Amino acid sequence: MPTFWKLAFLALISLLYLCYSRVDSSDVSSIPTIAKYFSTKGRYEEVNPHLLADILAVNTSIIRPPSPRCRAIHLTAIIRHGTRYPTTKNVKKMLTFYDIVKNSSTSDASWLREIREEWRMWYTEDMDGRLVQKGREDHRHLAVRLSKMFPSLISEENLRGGNVTFITSSKHRCVNSTLAFKRGLTELWDIRDIEVDHAENDALMRFFDHCARFKIEVNDNPKALPELDEFNEGPEMRRVQEKIADRLGVPYSDITDESVEAAFYLCAYEFAIKTVNSPWCQLFDEVDAQVMEYANDLKQYWKRAYGYDINSKSSCILFHDVFSRLDTAVQENESGGVSEVATIQIGHAETLLPLLTLLGFFKDSEHLMSENYATQTERRFRTSRMLPYAANLVLALYDCGDGELRVQPLLNEKAVAFPGLSDTQSSMPLYRDVKERYRELLEGCDFETECKLFESNDTECIFLYLQVLSINIGAVGK
Ligand SMILES: *[C@@H]1O[C@H](CO)[C@@H](O)[C@H](O)[C@H]1NC(C)=O
Ligand SMILES: *[C@@H]1O[C@H](CO)[C@@H](O)[C@H](O)[C@H]1NC(C)=O
Ligand SMILES: *[C@@H]1O[C@H](CO)[C@@H](O)[C@H](O)[C@H]1NC(C)=O
Ligand SMILES: *[C@@H]1O[C@H](CO)[C@@H](O)[C@H](O)[C@H]1NC(C)=O
Ligand SMILES: *[C@@H]1O[C@H](CO)[C@@H](O)[C@H](O)[C@H]1NC(C)=O
Repeated sequence: MPTFWKLAFLALISLLYLCYSRVDSSDVSSIPTIAKYFSTKGRYEEVNPHLLADILAVNTSIIRPPSPRCRAIHLTAIIRHGTRYPTTKNVKKMLTFYDIVKNSSTSDASWLREIREEWRMWYTEDMDGRLVQKGREDHRHLAVRLSKMFPSLISEENLRGGNVTFITSSKHRCVNSTLAFKRGLTELWDIRDIEVDHAENDALMRFFDHCARFKIEVNDNPKALPELDEFNEGPEMRRVQEKIADRLGVPYSDITDESVEAAFYLCAYEFAIKTVNSPWCQLFDEVDAQVMEYANDLKQYWKRAYGYDINSKSSCILFHDVFSRLDTAVQENESGGVSEVATIQIGHAETLLPLLTLLGFFKDSEHLMSENYATQTERRFRTSRMLPYAANLVLALYDCGDGELRVQPLLNEKAVAFPGLSDTQSSMPLYRDVKERYRELLEGCDFETECKLFESNDTECIFLYLQVLSINIGAVGK
Protein backbone atom coordinates (compact mmCIF):
# COMPACT_ATOMS: atom_id res chain seq x y z
CA MET A 1 0.00 0.00 0.00
CA PRO A 2 2.62 2.60 0.92
CA THR A 3 4.46 1.68 -2.28
CA PHE A 4 1.28 2.27 -4.27
CA TRP A 5 0.88 5.75 -2.79
CA LYS A 6 4.51 6.46 -3.38
CA LEU A 7 4.11 5.50 -7.03
CA ALA A 8 0.92 7.49 -7.36
CA PHE A 9 2.65 10.47 -5.83
CA LEU A 10 5.57 10.13 -8.22
CA ALA A 11 3.17 9.87 -11.15
CA LEU A 12 1.42 13.01 -10.01
CA ILE A 13 4.73 14.83 -9.68
CA SER A 14 5.84 13.80 -13.16
CA LEU A 15 2.48 14.85 -14.55
CA LEU A 16 2.82 18.25 -12.92
CA TYR A 17 6.34 18.46 -14.23
CA LEU A 18 5.16 17.67 -17.74
CA CYS A 19 2.45 20.29 -17.55
CA TYR A 20 4.89 22.88 -16.33
CA SER A 21 7.44 22.13 -18.99
CA ARG A 22 4.62 22.48 -21.52
CA VAL A 23 3.85 25.90 -20.15
CA ASP A 24 7.53 26.70 -20.37
CA SER A 25 7.93 25.69 -23.97
CA SER A 26 4.82 27.59 -25.05
CA ASP A 27 6.33 30.55 -23.22
CA VAL A 28 9.39 30.32 -25.41
CA SER A 29 7.38 30.25 -28.64
CA SER A 30 5.53 33.33 -27.45
CA ILE A 31 8.76 35.21 -28.06
CA PRO A 32 8.95 36.48 -31.66
CA THR A 33 12.12 35.28 -33.34
CA ILE A 34 12.85 38.89 -34.22
CA ALA A 35 12.51 40.19 -30.63
CA LYS A 36 16.24 40.67 -30.27
CA TYR A 37 16.23 43.33 -33.00
CA PHE A 38 13.71 45.76 -31.50
CA SER A 39 16.42 48.29 -30.60
CA THR A 40 15.03 50.88 -28.17
CA LYS A 41 11.62 49.19 -28.22
CA GLY A 42 13.08 45.97 -26.89
CA ARG A 43 12.31 44.11 -23.71
CA TYR A 44 14.93 44.07 -20.93
CA GLU A 45 14.61 40.28 -20.66
CA GLU A 46 16.00 39.95 -24.19
CA VAL A 47 19.38 41.24 -23.00
CA ASN A 48 19.16 39.23 -19.77
CA PRO A 49 17.34 36.00 -20.68
CA HIS A 50 18.07 34.40 -17.30
CA LEU A 51 15.41 36.74 -15.89
CA LEU A 52 12.74 34.77 -17.75
CA ALA A 53 13.29 31.90 -15.33
CA ASP A 54 13.53 34.14 -12.25
CA ILE A 55 12.89 37.84 -12.56
CA LEU A 56 14.63 38.50 -9.24
CA ALA A 57 17.77 36.48 -9.99
CA VAL A 58 21.07 38.25 -9.62
CA ASN A 59 24.44 36.89 -10.65
CA THR A 60 26.81 38.24 -8.04
CA SER A 61 29.76 36.56 -9.72
CA ILE A 62 29.71 39.25 -12.40
CA ILE A 63 31.24 41.62 -9.87
CA ARG A 64 34.71 40.39 -9.22
CA PRO A 65 36.43 42.54 -6.65
CA PRO A 66 40.16 41.89 -6.69
CA SER A 67 40.04 40.95 -3.03
CA PRO A 68 37.38 39.60 -0.68
CA ARG A 69 38.01 42.57 1.57
CA CYS A 70 36.52 44.94 -1.01
CA ARG A 71 33.28 46.54 0.01
CA ALA A 72 30.99 48.80 -1.96
CA ILE A 73 30.76 52.31 -0.55
CA HIS A 74 28.66 54.11 -3.16
CA LEU A 75 26.76 53.55 -6.37
CA THR A 76 25.29 55.83 -8.97
CA ALA A 77 22.72 54.31 -11.31
CA ILE A 78 21.39 55.99 -14.43
CA ILE A 79 18.30 54.14 -15.56
CA ARG A 80 15.95 54.45 -18.50
CA HIS A 81 12.20 54.42 -17.79
CA GLY A 82 10.37 51.10 -18.16
CA THR A 83 8.19 49.73 -20.95
CA ARG A 84 5.81 52.33 -22.31
CA TYR A 85 3.03 52.90 -24.79
CA PRO A 86 3.91 54.29 -28.20
CA THR A 87 4.08 58.06 -28.55
CA THR A 88 1.30 59.91 -30.34
CA LYS A 89 3.41 60.26 -33.48
CA ASN A 90 4.01 56.53 -33.69
CA VAL A 91 0.41 55.62 -32.90
CA LYS A 92 -0.59 57.70 -35.93
CA LYS A 93 1.77 55.71 -38.15
CA MET A 94 0.41 52.45 -36.73
CA LEU A 95 -3.19 53.51 -37.41
CA THR A 96 -2.39 54.42 -41.00
CA PHE A 97 -0.68 51.11 -41.65
CA TYR A 98 -3.49 49.19 -39.97
CA ASP A 99 -5.95 50.79 -42.39
CA ILE A 100 -3.87 49.69 -45.36
CA VAL A 101 -3.75 46.12 -44.11
CA LYS A 102 -7.41 46.04 -43.18
CA ASN A 103 -8.69 47.59 -46.43
CA SER A 104 -6.26 46.48 -49.10
CA SER A 105 -4.45 43.26 -48.21
CA THR A 106 -5.45 40.40 -50.48
CA SER A 107 -3.39 37.52 -49.19
CA ASP A 108 -5.26 34.69 -47.53
CA ALA A 109 -2.56 33.66 -45.05
CA SER A 110 -4.01 32.61 -41.70
CA TRP A 111 -2.05 35.20 -39.72
CA LEU A 112 -3.35 37.90 -42.03
CA ARG A 113 -6.90 36.70 -41.60
CA GLU A 114 -6.28 36.84 -37.87
CA ILE A 115 -5.22 40.49 -38.17
CA ARG A 116 -8.22 41.36 -40.33
CA GLU A 117 -10.84 39.41 -38.41
CA GLU A 118 -9.70 39.02 -34.82
CA TRP A 119 -7.02 41.52 -33.99
CA ARG A 120 -8.46 44.71 -32.61
CA MET A 121 -6.71 48.08 -32.99
CA TRP A 122 -6.43 49.25 -29.40
CA TYR A 123 -3.68 51.88 -29.61
CA THR A 124 -4.94 55.41 -29.23
CA GLU A 125 -3.18 58.73 -29.62
CA ASP A 126 -3.79 59.71 -26.00
CA MET A 127 -1.48 56.88 -24.84
CA ASP A 128 1.26 59.41 -25.44
CA GLY A 129 4.22 57.29 -24.37
CA ARG A 130 2.88 56.60 -20.88
CA LEU A 131 4.38 53.91 -18.70
CA VAL A 132 2.52 50.58 -18.90
CA GLN A 133 2.07 47.98 -16.16
CA LYS A 134 5.02 45.98 -17.50
CA GLY A 135 7.11 49.15 -17.20
CA ARG A 136 6.24 49.49 -13.53
CA GLU A 137 7.29 45.89 -13.03
CA ASP A 138 10.55 46.50 -14.91
CA HIS A 139 11.50 49.04 -12.26
CA ARG A 140 10.05 47.28 -9.24
CA HIS A 141 12.06 44.17 -10.06
CA LEU A 142 15.21 46.07 -10.99
CA ALA A 143 15.09 47.78 -7.58
CA VAL A 144 14.97 44.43 -5.80
CA ARG A 145 17.78 43.00 -7.91
CA LEU A 146 20.02 46.02 -7.30
CA SER A 147 19.38 45.74 -3.57
CA LYS A 148 20.41 42.07 -3.72
CA MET A 149 23.49 42.96 -5.71
CA PHE A 150 24.49 45.80 -3.36
CA PRO A 151 22.96 44.82 -0.01
CA SER A 152 25.14 47.19 2.01
CA LEU A 153 24.16 50.20 -0.12
CA ILE A 154 20.54 49.73 -1.13
CA SER A 155 19.40 48.60 2.29
CA GLU A 156 16.39 49.27 4.48
CA GLU A 157 18.51 51.29 6.89
CA ASN A 158 19.91 53.52 4.14
CA LEU A 159 16.52 54.00 2.55
CA ARG A 160 15.01 54.97 5.89
CA GLY A 161 17.97 57.21 6.68
CA GLY A 162 17.49 59.18 3.48
CA ASN A 163 20.87 58.00 2.19
CA VAL A 164 19.46 56.71 -1.09
CA THR A 165 18.69 59.63 -3.37
CA PHE A 166 16.22 59.60 -6.26
CA ILE A 167 16.39 62.04 -9.17
CA THR A 168 14.10 61.82 -12.16
CA SER A 169 13.18 63.49 -15.41
CA SER A 170 9.83 65.24 -15.05
CA LYS A 171 8.23 63.18 -17.86
CA HIS A 172 5.35 61.10 -16.52
CA ARG A 173 6.87 57.80 -17.63
CA CYS A 174 10.05 58.59 -15.69
CA VAL A 175 8.27 59.83 -12.57
CA ASN A 176 6.12 56.72 -12.57
CA SER A 177 9.17 54.53 -13.09
CA THR A 178 10.74 56.23 -10.08
CA LEU A 179 7.63 55.57 -8.00
CA ALA A 180 7.69 51.93 -9.08
CA PHE A 181 11.38 51.60 -8.22
CA LYS A 182 10.77 53.01 -4.75
CA ARG A 183 7.73 50.79 -4.31
CA GLY A 184 9.89 47.78 -5.14
CA LEU A 185 12.05 48.64 -2.13
CA THR A 186 9.36 49.71 0.32
CA GLU A 187 7.41 46.52 -0.42
CA LEU A 188 10.53 44.42 -0.05
CA TRP A 189 11.08 45.71 3.47
CA ASP A 190 7.44 46.34 4.23
CA ILE A 191 8.07 50.01 4.92
CA ARG A 192 4.81 51.86 5.49
CA ASP A 193 5.67 54.57 7.97
CA ILE A 194 7.81 56.82 5.79
CA GLU A 195 7.63 58.47 2.39
CA VAL A 196 10.75 58.28 0.28
CA ASP A 197 11.35 61.54 -1.59
CA HIS A 198 12.45 62.08 -5.13
CA ALA A 199 13.52 65.20 -6.99
CA GLU A 200 12.68 66.16 -10.55
CA ASN A 201 15.65 67.57 -12.39
CA ASP A 202 15.34 68.12 -16.13
CA ALA A 203 18.57 70.09 -16.42
CA LEU A 204 20.30 66.84 -15.49
CA MET A 205 18.03 64.13 -16.88
CA ARG A 206 16.76 65.95 -20.00
CA PHE A 207 19.89 67.93 -20.81
CA PHE A 208 19.12 67.42 -24.51
CA ASP A 209 16.21 69.86 -24.18
CA HIS A 210 18.47 72.52 -22.74
CA CYS A 211 21.34 72.33 -25.18
CA ALA A 212 20.67 74.96 -27.86
CA ARG A 213 23.43 73.81 -30.14
CA PHE A 214 22.25 70.21 -30.08
CA LYS A 215 18.69 71.28 -30.80
CA ILE A 216 19.50 73.56 -33.71
CA GLU A 217 22.23 71.49 -35.32
CA VAL A 218 20.87 67.99 -34.78
CA ASN A 219 17.56 67.43 -33.08
CA ASP A 220 15.48 69.99 -34.97
CA ASN A 221 17.54 69.95 -38.13
CA PRO A 222 15.72 67.95 -40.82
CA LYS A 223 19.00 67.58 -42.72
CA ALA A 224 20.92 66.05 -39.81
CA LEU A 225 20.29 62.41 -40.65
CA PRO A 226 21.20 61.95 -44.33
CA GLU A 227 22.59 58.48 -43.64
CA LEU A 228 19.24 57.33 -42.29
CA ASP A 229 17.36 58.98 -45.14
CA GLU A 230 19.60 57.31 -47.70
CA PHE A 231 19.33 53.93 -46.00
CA ASN A 232 15.55 54.22 -46.00
CA GLU A 233 15.70 54.82 -49.76
CA GLY A 234 18.36 52.19 -50.33
CA PRO A 235 18.29 48.64 -51.65
CA GLU A 236 18.14 46.82 -48.30
CA MET A 237 15.13 48.76 -47.08
CA ARG A 238 13.43 48.62 -50.47
CA ARG A 239 13.72 44.85 -50.37
CA VAL A 240 12.06 44.76 -46.92
CA GLN A 241 9.23 46.92 -48.25
CA GLU A 242 8.73 44.66 -51.25
CA LYS A 243 8.69 41.52 -49.12
CA ILE A 244 6.09 43.06 -46.83
CA ALA A 245 3.97 44.14 -49.80
CA ASP A 246 4.20 40.59 -51.17
CA ARG A 247 3.21 39.08 -47.84
CA LEU A 248 0.20 41.38 -47.66
CA GLY A 249 -0.69 41.09 -51.32
CA VAL A 250 -0.69 44.85 -51.92
CA PRO A 251 1.06 46.89 -54.63
CA TYR A 252 4.65 47.90 -53.82
CA SER A 253 3.63 51.52 -54.02
CA ASP A 254 1.38 51.10 -50.96
CA ILE A 255 4.29 50.29 -48.68
CA THR A 256 6.70 53.04 -47.65
CA ASP A 257 9.50 53.17 -45.12
CA GLU A 258 6.94 54.62 -42.71
CA SER A 259 4.69 51.59 -43.19
CA VAL A 260 7.44 49.11 -42.42
CA GLU A 261 8.38 51.15 -39.39
CA ALA A 262 4.76 51.04 -38.22
CA ALA A 263 4.56 47.29 -38.85
CA PHE A 264 7.72 46.76 -36.83
CA TYR A 265 6.28 48.86 -33.99
CA LEU A 266 3.08 46.82 -34.00
CA CYS A 267 5.03 43.60 -33.52
CA ALA A 268 7.39 45.18 -30.96
CA TYR A 269 4.72 46.90 -28.85
CA GLU A 270 2.39 43.91 -28.74
CA PHE A 271 5.31 41.95 -27.41
CA ALA A 272 6.77 44.52 -25.01
CA ILE A 273 3.43 45.52 -23.52
CA LYS A 274 1.45 42.27 -23.61
CA THR A 275 4.18 39.65 -24.06
CA VAL A 276 2.40 38.21 -27.08
CA ASN A 277 3.87 37.03 -30.34
CA SER A 278 1.29 38.84 -32.46
CA PRO A 279 0.42 38.05 -36.09
CA TRP A 280 2.09 41.36 -37.02
CA CYS A 281 5.44 39.71 -36.39
CA GLN A 282 4.77 37.43 -39.38
CA LEU A 283 5.43 40.41 -41.63
CA PHE A 284 9.16 40.14 -40.95
CA ASP A 285 11.75 37.46 -41.21
CA GLU A 286 15.06 37.69 -39.41
CA VAL A 287 16.86 39.30 -42.36
CA ASP A 288 14.21 42.03 -42.52
CA ALA A 289 14.46 42.59 -38.78
CA GLN A 290 18.21 43.08 -39.04
CA VAL A 291 17.66 45.77 -41.65
CA MET A 292 15.10 47.45 -39.40
CA GLU A 293 17.52 47.26 -36.49
CA TYR A 294 20.20 48.92 -38.59
CA ALA A 295 17.87 51.75 -39.55
CA ASN A 296 17.11 52.33 -35.88
CA ASP A 297 20.79 52.13 -34.99
CA LEU A 298 21.60 54.67 -37.70
CA LYS A 299 19.04 57.02 -36.23
CA GLN A 300 20.39 56.70 -32.69
CA TYR A 301 23.96 56.87 -33.90
CA TRP A 302 23.53 60.15 -35.73
CA LYS A 303 21.01 61.72 -33.42
CA ARG A 304 22.33 60.71 -29.99
CA ALA A 305 25.74 59.15 -30.30
CA TYR A 306 28.97 59.25 -32.30
CA GLY A 307 27.49 60.84 -35.41
CA TYR A 308 27.97 64.41 -34.14
CA ASP A 309 30.25 65.57 -31.36
CA ILE A 310 27.58 67.74 -29.76
CA ASN A 311 25.37 64.67 -29.17
CA SER A 312 27.62 63.34 -26.44
CA LYS A 313 28.85 66.76 -25.31
CA SER A 314 25.30 67.72 -24.45
CA SER A 315 25.62 65.23 -21.56
CA CYS A 316 28.61 67.05 -20.02
CA ILE A 317 26.39 68.24 -17.21
CA LEU A 318 25.41 64.67 -16.28
CA PHE A 319 28.99 63.47 -16.72
CA HIS A 320 30.29 66.02 -14.21
CA ASP A 321 27.41 65.30 -11.87
CA VAL A 322 28.28 61.59 -11.82
CA PHE A 323 31.95 62.22 -11.15
CA SER A 324 31.27 64.80 -8.48
CA ARG A 325 29.11 62.25 -6.65
CA LEU A 326 31.93 59.74 -6.82
CA ASP A 327 34.40 62.39 -5.60
CA THR A 328 32.13 63.30 -2.71
CA ALA A 329 31.87 59.66 -1.73
CA VAL A 330 35.67 59.36 -1.79
CA GLN A 331 36.10 62.44 0.39
CA GLU A 332 33.37 61.43 2.82
CA ASN A 333 34.82 57.95 3.11
CA GLU A 334 38.12 59.47 4.16
CA SER A 335 36.43 61.60 6.76
CA GLY A 336 34.35 58.88 8.35
CA GLY A 337 31.26 57.91 6.38
CA VAL A 338 29.52 58.27 3.05
CA SER A 339 26.14 59.97 3.43
CA GLU A 340 24.74 59.46 -0.08
CA VAL A 341 25.39 55.75 -0.51
CA ALA A 342 23.26 55.31 -3.62
CA THR A 343 21.94 57.69 -6.24
CA ILE A 344 19.16 56.45 -8.50
CA GLN A 345 18.68 58.68 -11.55
CA ILE A 346 15.85 57.93 -13.91
CA GLY A 347 15.64 59.31 -17.43
CA HIS A 348 15.44 58.34 -21.06
CA ALA A 349 17.30 56.41 -23.73
CA GLU A 350 18.27 59.93 -24.86
CA THR A 351 19.82 60.51 -21.44
CA LEU A 352 21.81 57.30 -21.31
CA LEU A 353 23.08 57.08 -24.88
CA PRO A 354 24.94 60.43 -25.03
CA LEU A 355 26.59 59.62 -21.68
CA LEU A 356 27.63 56.13 -22.81
CA THR A 357 29.01 57.78 -25.94
CA LEU A 358 30.92 60.42 -23.98
CA LEU A 359 32.46 57.61 -21.92
CA GLY A 360 33.46 55.89 -25.18
CA PHE A 361 31.33 52.75 -24.98
CA PHE A 362 30.29 50.82 -28.11
CA LYS A 363 32.43 52.80 -30.47
CA ASP A 364 33.14 51.23 -33.84
CA SER A 365 36.19 51.99 -35.93
CA GLU A 366 33.99 53.29 -38.73
CA HIS A 367 30.87 55.40 -38.70
CA LEU A 368 27.57 53.66 -39.31
CA MET A 369 26.62 54.75 -42.83
CA SER A 370 23.84 54.09 -45.31
CA GLU A 371 26.23 52.10 -47.50
CA ASN A 372 28.10 49.97 -45.00
CA TYR A 373 25.27 47.82 -43.67
CA ALA A 374 27.03 44.68 -44.88
CA THR A 375 30.37 45.48 -43.27
CA GLN A 376 28.75 46.58 -40.00
CA THR A 377 27.13 43.24 -39.17
CA GLU A 378 29.59 42.73 -36.31
CA ARG A 379 29.32 46.30 -35.05
CA ARG A 380 29.52 47.12 -31.37
CA PHE A 381 26.87 49.82 -31.67
CA ARG A 382 23.67 47.82 -31.29
CA THR A 383 20.88 49.63 -29.49
CA SER A 384 18.95 46.36 -29.09
CA ARG A 385 21.63 45.25 -26.64
CA MET A 386 22.42 48.62 -25.12
CA LEU A 387 19.09 50.34 -24.67
CA PRO A 388 16.07 48.14 -23.97
CA TYR A 389 13.42 49.50 -21.64
CA ALA A 390 14.86 49.99 -18.12
CA ALA A 391 18.42 49.95 -19.51
CA ASN A 392 20.85 51.00 -16.82
CA LEU A 393 24.41 52.07 -16.21
CA VAL A 394 25.67 51.51 -12.68
CA LEU A 395 28.97 52.85 -11.40
CA ALA A 396 29.89 51.20 -8.11
CA LEU A 397 32.71 52.52 -5.96
CA TYR A 398 34.65 49.96 -3.91
CA ASP A 399 37.08 50.27 -1.05
CA CYS A 400 39.47 47.34 -1.05
CA GLY A 401 41.31 48.25 2.15
CA ASP A 402 44.52 49.11 0.32
CA GLY A 403 44.06 52.85 0.52
CA GLU A 404 42.75 53.01 -3.05
CA LEU A 405 39.20 53.07 -4.35
CA ARG A 406 38.01 51.19 -7.42
CA VAL A 407 35.09 51.64 -9.79
CA GLN A 408 33.06 48.89 -11.41
CA PRO A 409 30.86 49.87 -14.35
CA LEU A 410 27.86 47.65 -15.02
CA LEU A 411 25.64 47.99 -18.04
CA ASN A 412 22.29 46.24 -17.80
CA GLU A 413 23.63 44.31 -14.81
CA LYS A 414 26.67 43.02 -16.66
CA ALA A 415 30.24 44.01 -15.97
CA VAL A 416 31.77 46.13 -18.71
CA ALA A 417 35.22 47.67 -19.01
CA PHE A 418 35.83 51.36 -19.47
CA PRO A 419 36.97 51.71 -23.09
CA GLY A 420 40.68 52.34 -23.31
CA LEU A 421 41.18 51.16 -19.76
CA SER A 422 41.35 47.45 -20.40
CA ASP A 423 42.90 46.55 -17.11
CA THR A 424 44.06 43.02 -17.68
CA GLN A 425 44.05 42.07 -14.00
CA SER A 426 40.41 42.74 -13.30
CA SER A 427 37.50 44.65 -14.69
CA MET A 428 37.60 46.85 -11.63
CA PRO A 429 40.08 49.64 -12.27
CA LEU A 430 41.34 52.13 -9.74
CA TYR A 431 39.21 55.25 -9.51
CA ARG A 432 42.41 57.24 -9.94
CA ASP A 433 43.01 55.54 -13.32
CA VAL A 434 39.43 56.13 -14.40
CA LYS A 435 39.82 59.82 -13.68
CA GLU A 436 43.07 59.86 -15.60
CA ARG A 437 41.32 58.17 -18.53
CA TYR A 438 38.69 60.91 -18.63
CA ARG A 439 40.98 63.76 -17.56
CA GLU A 440 40.39 65.86 -20.64
CA LEU A 441 36.63 65.70 -20.15
CA LEU A 442 36.89 66.25 -16.41
CA GLU A 443 38.90 69.39 -17.01
CA GLY A 444 36.68 70.61 -19.81
CA CYS A 445 33.39 69.41 -21.23
CA ASP A 446 31.55 72.45 -19.99
CA PHE A 447 27.85 72.22 -20.79
CA GLU A 448 27.37 75.97 -21.22
CA THR A 449 30.33 76.31 -23.56
CA GLU A 450 29.52 73.24 -25.63
CA CYS A 451 25.86 74.07 -25.99
CA LYS A 452 26.23 77.76 -26.78
CA LEU A 453 25.34 78.56 -30.37
CA PHE A 454 28.03 81.14 -30.98
CA GLU A 455 30.80 83.06 -29.32
CA SER A 456 30.48 86.82 -29.38
CA ASN A 457 31.74 88.14 -32.77
CA ASP A 458 32.12 84.62 -34.14
CA THR A 459 30.66 85.36 -37.54
CA GLU A 460 31.27 81.88 -38.90
CA CYS A 461 28.93 80.41 -36.32
CA ILE A 462 26.28 83.04 -36.95
CA PHE A 463 26.49 82.19 -40.63
CA LEU A 464 26.06 78.50 -39.88
CA TYR A 465 23.16 79.25 -37.61
CA LEU A 466 21.43 81.28 -40.30
CA GLN A 467 22.04 78.49 -42.77
CA VAL A 468 20.44 75.93 -40.47
CA LEU A 469 17.61 78.32 -39.79
CA SER A 470 16.92 78.72 -43.47
CA ILE A 471 16.96 74.96 -43.92
CA ASN A 472 14.41 74.73 -41.13
CA ILE A 473 12.25 77.40 -42.69
CA GLY A 474 12.60 75.63 -46.03
CA ALA A 475 11.40 72.39 -44.44
CA VAL A 476 8.44 74.10 -42.81
CA GLY A 477 7.51 75.57 -46.15
CA LYS A 478 7.50 72.13 -47.77
C1 LIG B 1 27.08 34.39 -13.81
O1 LIG B 1 27.99 35.15 -14.58
C2 LIG B 1 29.17 34.45 -14.88
C3 LIG B 1 30.13 35.41 -15.52
O2 LIG B 1 29.51 36.18 -16.53
C4 LIG B 1 28.81 33.28 -15.78
O3 LIG B 1 29.97 32.56 -16.12
C5 LIG B 1 27.84 32.38 -15.04
O4 LIG B 1 27.40 31.35 -15.88
C6 LIG B 1 26.64 33.16 -14.55
N1 LIG B 1 25.83 32.34 -13.70
C7 LIG B 1 24.53 32.22 -13.85
C8 LIG B 1 23.84 31.36 -12.86
O5 LIG B 1 23.91 32.79 -14.75
C1 LIG C 1 -9.97 52.03 -44.66
O1 LIG C 1 -11.17 51.80 -43.99
C2 LIG C 1 -11.50 52.73 -43.00
C3 LIG C 1 -12.76 52.29 -42.33
O2 LIG C 1 -12.67 50.96 -41.99
C4 LIG C 1 -11.64 54.09 -43.63
O3 LIG C 1 -11.92 55.05 -42.64
C5 LIG C 1 -10.38 54.45 -44.33
O4 LIG C 1 -10.51 55.66 -45.01
C6 LIG C 1 -9.96 53.38 -45.31
N1 LIG C 1 -8.65 53.68 -45.81
C7 LIG C 1 -8.29 53.50 -47.05
C8 LIG C 1 -6.89 53.84 -47.37
O5 LIG C 1 -9.03 53.07 -47.89
C1 LIG D 1 1.43 57.82 -13.19
O1 LIG D 1 0.92 57.56 -11.94
C2 LIG D 1 -0.09 58.43 -11.55
C3 LIG D 1 -0.45 58.14 -10.14
O2 LIG D 1 0.21 57.02 -9.67
C4 LIG D 1 -1.30 58.25 -12.44
O3 LIG D 1 -2.31 59.13 -12.08
C5 LIG D 1 -0.85 58.51 -13.83
O4 LIG D 1 -1.90 58.25 -14.72
C6 LIG D 1 0.34 57.68 -14.18
N1 LIG D 1 0.79 58.10 -15.43
C7 LIG D 1 1.16 57.25 -16.34
C8 LIG D 1 1.70 57.90 -17.54
O5 LIG D 1 1.08 56.06 -16.24
C1 LIG E 1 22.61 59.31 6.12
O1 LIG E 1 22.37 60.63 5.83
C2 LIG E 1 22.25 61.44 6.97
C3 LIG E 1 21.79 62.79 6.52
O2 LIG E 1 22.12 63.02 5.21
C4 LIG E 1 23.58 61.50 7.69
O3 LIG E 1 23.50 62.32 8.80
C5 LIG E 1 23.91 60.12 8.07
O4 LIG E 1 25.18 60.10 8.64
C6 LIG E 1 23.87 59.20 6.87
N1 LIG E 1 23.99 57.86 7.32
C7 LIG E 1 25.01 57.14 7.02
C8 LIG E 1 24.94 55.73 7.46
O5 LIG E 1 25.94 57.56 6.38
C1 LIG F 1 37.33 54.36 3.54
O1 LIG F 1 36.79 54.29 4.86
C2 LIG F 1 37.22 53.17 5.59
C3 LIG F 1 36.48 53.17 6.89
O2 LIG F 1 36.54 54.42 7.50
C4 LIG F 1 38.71 53.23 5.78
O3 LIG F 1 39.17 52.09 6.49
C5 LIG F 1 39.39 53.27 4.42
O4 LIG F 1 40.76 53.43 4.54
C6 LIG F 1 38.84 54.40 3.60
N1 LIG F 1 39.38 54.26 2.26
C7 LIG F 1 40.00 55.22 1.65
C8 LIG F 1 40.54 54.91 0.32
O5 LIG F 1 40.14 56.32 2.14
